[in-house]
Amino acid sequence: MQDQILINTARSLMAPGKGLLAADESTGTIEKRLSGIDVESTEQTRRAYRNLLFTAGAEEFISGVILFEETLFQNADDGRPFPELLAALGMIPGIKVDQGAKPLAGSPEEKITEGLDGLRERLVRYREAGARFAKWRGVIDIAEDRPSDYCIRVNAHALARYAALCQEAGIVPIVEPEVLMNAEHSIARCKQVTEAVLDAVFAELKGQRVLLEGMLLKPNMVVSGKYCPQQAGIDEVAEATLQCLNRCVPAAVPGIVFLSGGQDDEDATAHLDAMNRRGPQPWTLSFSFGRALQTPALKAWRGQAENAPAAQQAYLRRARNNSAAARGEYSPDMEGAA
Ligand code: 13P
Repeated sequence: MQDQILINTARSLMAPGKGLLAADESTGTIEKRLSGIDVESTEQTRRAYRNLLFTAGAEEFISGVILFEETLFQNADDGRPFPELLAALGMIPGIKVDQGAKPLAGSPEEKITEGLDGLRERLVRYREAGARFAKWRGVIDIAEDRPSDYCIRVNAHALARYAALCQEAGIVPIVEPEVLMNAEHSIARCKQVTEAVLDAVFAELKGQRVLLEGMLLKPNMVVSGKYCPQQAGIDEVAEATLQCLNRCVPAAVPGIVFLSGGQDDEDATAHLDAMNRRGPQPWTLSFSFGRALQTPALKAWRGQAENAPAAQQAYLRRARNNSAAARGEYSPDMEGAA
């Protein structure tokens, strides 16, 4: 019974040609995004910005929205709680449940994600508020002597503990182990680390009895480090990412929704498209982008109510084009189209 609820939610999230909007920036991260457009981050500006995104009319392309806890308990302009508004529009509300990545004891340059204590009780409250899926992000950084096996192991263990608790509560866990691109490494090194991380994550998920059919994976794409002098092209990224996923992700997992991780918006779209053109794959491949869906909208908005329609159009374009990429039907010409 519970298994079937999880499986059905995971399938609805992976509806053909749809993906997820990650609008779950923590208070610190949204402050950074808003200060980038000279907007002060207050409860009201955060609410207004999220209202603008959720009412843009993107439900044709977006199956679910990941919220930060504050947003889960806020109301839309029309007075309805955000989860109720999203559900009425046909978008499944989700919730970020981790409490951030903190320095790892014994290896303080690396990070471990916190938030397991009290999670079982929080999940009950989140479900009552309408959340049907959740997200937890583990962060793995690449440097000459990093990541350590220790860091990979404890992050994988925490991801699986979180996933098992979500499933117990009838909430689909999105398992997000992010290998950061913010460094100088080659695509080959990204691939090697991503494989090691995914192997560790799936070993823990199985060891902790997580129902693979009732979860989604949210990985990084396999890309060159942002500051690597040799930048891999679209085909190379698609092939390296697919090889890595085929080696590590069981076919029982219904869907893989990529994070964008600081890639250029249109590159992220082109990479997803190139992977789907090489399909079919064992799992549905789609997006769960934050920045790659929102950056043009933030720039268009600048905190001014009169710019809201332009911001919504900018977000809609990214949602529409990523939806096309989720079907393997994207073309860069679509970027210029009305
Ligand atoms: P980005 O697509 O901006 O990486 O955000 C996705 C996300 O949810 C990070 O946890």
